[in-house]
Amino acid sequence: MAEEAVLGFLEKNEEIKDSGEFAVEKGISHEEIVNVIKSLNGFRFVDAQDIKKERWQLTAEGKTYAANGSPEFQLLMAVPPEGISRVELQKKLGDSVFKIGCQQAIKNKWVEVGKSQVSRKVAHVDDSVKDMLVKINNGEAPNKEDIDALKRRKLISPQVWKGYSVKKGPNYAPKRRKPATDLTRENLQSGEWKDLQFKEYNFLAKGFPIEGGYLHPLLKVRRQMQMIFLQMGFEEMPTNNYVESSFWNFDALFQPQQHPARDSHDTFFLKEPSTTKTLPEDYVERVKQIHESGGHGSRGYGYDWKREEANKNLLRTHTTAVSSRMLYALAKKPFEAKRYYSIDRVFRNEAVDRTHLAEFHQIEGLICDRGLSLGDLQGVLHDFFSRLGMSKLRFKPAYNPYTEPSMEIFGYHEGLKKWVEVGNSGMFRPEMLLPMGLPEDVTVIAWGLSLERPTMILYGIDNIRDLFGHKVDLGLIKSNPICRIGL
Ligand code: PHE
Repeated sequence: MAEEAVLGFLEKNEEIKDSGEFAVEKGISHEEIVNVIKSLNGFRFVDAQDIKKERWQLTAEGKTYAANGSPEFQLLMAVPPEGISRVELQKKLGDSVFKIGCQQAIKNKWVEVGKSQVSRKVAHVDDSVKDMLVKINNGEAPNKEDIDALKRRKLISPQVWKGYSVKKGPNYAPKRRKPATDLTRENLQSGEWKDLQFKEYNFLAKGFPIEGGYLHPLLKVRRQMQMIFLQMGFEEMPTNNYVESSFWNFDALFQPQQHPARDSHDTFFLKEPSTTKTLPEDYVERVKQIHESGGHGSRGYGYDWKREEANKNLLRTHTTAVSSRMLYALAKKPFEAKRYYSIDRVFRNEAVDRTHLAEFHQIEGLICDRGLSLGDLQGVLHDFFSRLGMSKLRFKPAYNPYTEPSMEIFGYHEGLKKWVEVGNSGMFRPEMLLPMGLPEDVTVIAWGLSLERPTMILYGIDNIRDLFGHKVDLGLIKSNPICRIGL
């Protein structure tokens, strides 16, 4: 409607002189008219020139005087012919009107103010201040001196009004047709394309920001861990099989078959295929032996070891299953010292809460050499964790079926100002290493930790489900920092 009004008016008239007056005439809001003028001007349908007008509006104080009279006039009206005491007059008028009224009325020589008494000097006056305020309020333009006087008293303030004067532009047409943005099959078939006006290309448009290419915090911390292992001379173990047999996951690690971790409450067993096809038979025999009756100075567990239990397939519950395969492979060749690491996924049949998932990642490191001691383990752990920014470590005795001694690792977190548990470690038992065929003087020191825990500490995430799984917030993945230094 506003657009038709503007274009229609210009069809018969030279110019719209003032968009404000035009809006009033047409009964359309000025804002709407202005928007249409801007748009038509952009497409050169019209030629618009700015007009700015300075107008005056009453301040809140000015408004009360326009209604009730100026304070000096109110004051004079309150002074009876015989005069009045200051105290009484102030009570009648209130503090503000009395104070301002006194100042102005004295200046105008309307009253005389003594120590205690106020008396009139004139019988009658006009309230010119009120008259001016009323006129300004009605849109009349006052003269310059009056404006200055009222401005000084902060009774009026300037207001800039913006509008346009409008003439026909080079592309003027009485009606605007929306330019087409696409050449379509329909308008090619109908022949309509010949008359269409096409919108020009904007080669400077920025286009949509490119999506994708964001690294998950777990990938970034994994990379950091990998770099530390590589700098320390470790080789990566192949962890590309999630499905493992109970044999490699538990039995080879001297974990007895009645151990609670082997229960389906803690472990996901496979239905299909439910059992493994092949195991190295001579080694299986030695493992059975060590479980049942011991050897190499051990008494074993003294129970009936069952092959069916070892055959059961499962989702590996720790990457130590891979370590056991690697050490067995190492034992088959002439002995060579090794440093191995892995970072990959493991599965536990656990109730999910803010710190636990049924699927998470383990970081695992091991060193296999002649004559390693617990001191070597502590030294390597100091080296490893100080590269992560944690140089204060404490160890607490712990228990794993496959390590002796075993230690939980605590690190002092400088940011959180407290000791946090950072991992588990130990020296692999002879009951695990000797049946594999490793030489008697070879010891293996090893440790493991989760990847999620340090990532949560580094990125300040307190619910593991925000980090991994189907409830992950993609916004977090896109907006997290490129890297975080120190643990
Ligand atoms: N496998 C252990 C775990 O799952 C970690 C560990 C690895 C402990 C190596 C000792 C030695 O917690």
